[in-house]
Amino acid sequence: MENKNVAIYLTGGIACYKAVNVVREFVKAKANVKVAMTASAQKMITPLTLAALSQNPVYTDFEMPGQTDFVPHISLADWSDLAVVVPASANIIAKMANGLADDFVSTALLATAAPKFVIPAMNDKMLSNPATSRNIAVLKDDGVKIMEPAYGFLAEGYDGKGRMPQPEEIFSWISQQMAVKQDLKGLKVVVSAAGTIEKIDPVRYLTNFSSGKMGYALAEVAKRRGAEVVLVSGPSNLQVPVGIKYHAIKNTTQMQNIMQAEFVDADIAIMAAAVSDYRVKEPATEKIKKDTPTLTLELVKNPDILKKLGQQKKSQFLVGFAAETQDVLANGGKKLIAKNLDMLVANDVARTDIGFGTKDNEVTLLTPKRQPKPLPKASKRQIAEWIFDEIIALRQERGEKLSNAMPK
Ligand code: CTP
Repeated sequence: MENKNVAIYLTGGIACYKAVNVVREFVKAKANVKVAMTASAQKMITPLTLAALSQNPVYTDFEMPGQTDFVPHISLADWSDLAVVVPASANIIAKMANGLADDFVSTALLATAAPKFVIPAMNDKMLSNPATSRNIAVLKDDGVKIMEPAYGFLAEGYDGKGRMPQPEEIFSWISQQMAVKQDLKGLKVVVSAAGTIEKIDPVRYLTNFSSGKMGYALAEVAKRRGAEVVLVSGPSNLQVPVGIKYHAIKNTTQMQNIMQAEFVDADIAIMAAAVSDYRVKEPATEKIKKDTPTLTLELVKNPDILKKLGQQKKSQFLVGFAAETQDVLANGGKKLIAKNLDMLVANDVARTDIGFGTKDNEVTLLTPKRQPKPLPKASKRQIAEWIFDEIIALRQERGEKLSNAMPK
């Protein structure tokens, strides 16, 4: 934690008195610490205590006496390498989950791009309330790390789940999470995502239900684990992960051209895009009028990008996805062989709780030499982590440590 800029946000809860020691843990570890407090937190302990411990003024509101910084919430948000919310009340969790910004703490938290660590501490019934559970699930899905509250004696005078863990435990949990593995460092990872679209006329097109979530999660995880990442994406509403090379494409031909060019010096390529298998043979140059009772579109087959990459492959590790509605493993296995892949992620798109547009997925990893590996249902981000764990294990098995992207 040495020299890391740590913003610690205290919100309303009796556990504020223990949060003082969380601040101390970071100061002891030689981090630069700045504290912000909600109005409720200031009723529990004084800002002066935390200013003395952190050796920095404490943010208590947008305007403070003697202040020279006119946008302090943005300054704090941009300064932070990590943001810790401790204790996190049900209220701040609800605000964070919904993007509300109605005081200094919630506004700075909304503005920061730093990794966020939330340590809930509240009454057991507030914790188990479906609304709080829902909000925690939303935050987890957004990539916020949430520490599991402890079971024990609550301020209410009885035992229950909702107690804040000990400050040393909180510090070591955050330290572990910050030590991100850099096992993709030096490797070039190319990912395709979202659906391609094929024009019918100037105002209409053919496409599919892909949201791009799985591909974007793969790109984000690869970046975090140290890779040089290229994301080739069809239209999507998702935020482009920072620090990657991004190609926005529309149709299959554009995706194919970029994928083939980026594949040459790639180490790992993953086709997570839902590619339109057909395109309109001759898209109309003018808007098609509804003056006929039926309309026939003539479609021609698009190239299979993944198959082409499989033919072009040298030492690249090539991964495909299989969207199946029946016989998932058998059909996936056929695609693995036919497209000369190193791994195929088989996806049952007939299920409505996973797959297209949903935040979760449940997939099976198929590889040429091993038994199929079913993964449990999890967020697409978690699935992305497991996919890279497996790719790294298989590359190591093949004795591949060197990168195609790096000078040999
Ligand atoms: N894919 C591709 N180019 C296409 C179609 C698919 O690169 N024209 C890729 C997808 O990105 C995915 C894999 O091939 O990684 C499998 O896609 P899927 O739609 O499951 O299968 P298809 O090969 O299109 O076969 P089918 O639609 O007949 O099941």
